[in-house]
Amino acid sequence: MPEHVCPWWIGYLLASPLRRFFHKPEQIVSPYLKEGMTVLEVGPGMGFFTLPMARLVGSQGKIICIDVQKKMIDSLLRRAARAGLADRIITRLTSGDSLQVEDFANRIDLALLFAVVHEIPDQEKLFREVLTTLKEGSLILISEPSGHVIFPRIFGQREKPVY
Ligand SMILES: C[S@@+](CC[C@H](N)C(=O)[O-])C[C@H]1O[C@@H](n2cnc3c(N)ncnc32)[C@H](O)[C@@H]1O
Repeated sequence: MPEHVCPWWIGYLLASPLRRFFHKPEQIVSPYLKEGMTVLEVGPGMGFFTLPMARLVGSQGKIICIDVQKKMIDSLLRRAARAGLADRIITRLTSGDSLQVEDFANRIDLALLFAVVHEIPDQEKLFREVLTTLKEGSLILISEPSGHVIFPRIFGQREKPVY
């Protein structure tokens, strides 16, 4: 596993309800989600976005979660079971070299990559793999912590990124 992957114990902090003071998952994702959708979530951690998305897509929807850390996935599944949402969530543990999502080609309505792109060394491959999963007209929602984003100094453009 690449060394810059977020340690598993940080997953507990990221999934803490206190994070809602900074990030409101429903507000962030709901403009892009409808009932019945299939979502690909790369690097879900312990499910801070997964569970709200599973509620928003309803009983006919699915959230496909791909992570490199078993402890993240195990905790996500425990939380999903407690919330009664386990049947809407499919998890997959990958090696980190590939998302291994060939079987989801053209099946995804939304891909969410929240605070994960900077942890993946081959980002070109990451986006190539994500793109193969998307249905025509689907969206990718990407968010990165500000410290991991370099903004070009273009006149008139905001210099500080918004997280
Ligand atoms: C900083 S955490 C963000 C977790 C979650 N997206 C959130 O915002 O709460 C990054 C997550 O990406 C996962 N990750 C790192 N490299 C990955 C890769 N190559 N493929 C899939 N997941 C990866 C980590 O194990 C971790 O769960």
